[in-house]
Amino acid sequence: MTTRVLSSQEQDAILEAAQLLRQGEVVVFPTETVYGLGANALREDAVKKIFAAKGRPADNPLIAHIAAPEQAHLLVADWPPVAQALSDAFWPGPLTLILPKKDCVPSMTTGGMDTVAVRCPAHPVARALIQAAGFPIAAPSANLSGRPSPTTADDCLADLDGRVPLILDGGPSIIGLESTVVDLTGEAPTVLRPGGISPEDIARVAGDARLDAAVLSPLGKNQPVRSPGMKYRHYAPRAHVTLLDGPGAAHALARRVSQARTEGETAFVLYSGQAPQDVPHTLCMDGEAPYSALYTALRRADRLGADHIFALLPGQEGVALAARNRLLRAAAFEVIWEAMP
Ligand code: TXA
Ligand code: MG
Repeated sequence: MTTRVLSSQEQDAILEAAQLLRQGEVVVFPTETVYGLGANALREDAVKKIFAAKGRPADNPLIAHIAAPEQAHLLVADWPPVAQALSDAFWPGPLTLILPKKDCVPSMTTGGMDTVAVRCPAHPVARALIQAAGFPIAAPSANLSGRPSPTTADDCLADLDGRVPLILDGGPSIIGLESTVVDLTGEAPTVLRPGGISPEDIARVAGDARLDAAVLSPLGKNQPVRSPGMKYRHYAPRAHVTLLDGPGAAHALARRVSQARTEGETAFVLYSGQAPQDVPHTLCMDGEAPYSALYTALRRADRLGADHIFALLPGQEGVALAARNRLLRAAAFEVIWEAMP
């Protein structure tokens, strides 16, 4: 299959993409978080193609995207007041809500679960595409399974060339990290995946918010899996990632990199904020906002042939929590404590 890349600003580009979706095909489209690989969320045969194109395990459920908050009722069987409050506060935007699904949502979309993940994205191209298609669009991030999420059309092409008919190019994603996923089916709203909207933001609106244990620690052997995505090694560059924490961490970056380089490794420091001093081999994780270029930097590391990446363990406040979660996974939870220099 040949993959075409069309600028979303080109005349009829969105209509053409919508036409493909109506024919049961998959299409890559931009959102404000990361690019999505979309298909008709209500058609099993169409959704199946997403899993095939990505090489995604069939038990990992997809997010269904809607064009306007009112369309949630197309998918959701029970819409509690807390869902209304959160959608009023954060939709359109980088928030995904998990709620009981309606029968019309095929279990292929939800990875066999009886809940559905719903998000109303803020990106005008995403919303126009859903509107033009006329149905909710199921879409995971448009990367090959296990690779960092794509934040440009080029990233999508690098992973999916020949596997999808069309990529709609809407420019770089502004947020650069996936949406915050909040489960509303339990006792209290529970953040399954942190993103641009922090647990503090959720608690402010919902009155309460918990953080699922799997966000910051590896899943134990017999621990229940609330979000299947957490089972898989994720957000991974090809290089080995090591995180440094503790009072001596910033100071240790230069030493760790030069030591690795002496041992023959192509090593880099990944940083946010100020560039670390005395390290020539750095990759910045900041675009328009802190950590918004995290995946761009990881993909760049791959292209530069990096064997080893060192980074400071991000904090737990605001969007840093999302970066902490992604980097912990990329590092397979390897964190080295650096005592006082
Ligand atoms: O920002 C985003 O959320 C992007 C854009 C394209 O919208 N999408 C995205 O999708 O990141 P994906 O498939 O890469 O991640 C969806 C996550 C997975 O970890 C999945 O396990 C979880 O949401 N998820 C989806 N449906 C779920 C459900 N019913 N219950 C629990 N977790 C669910
Ligand atoms: Mg993904």
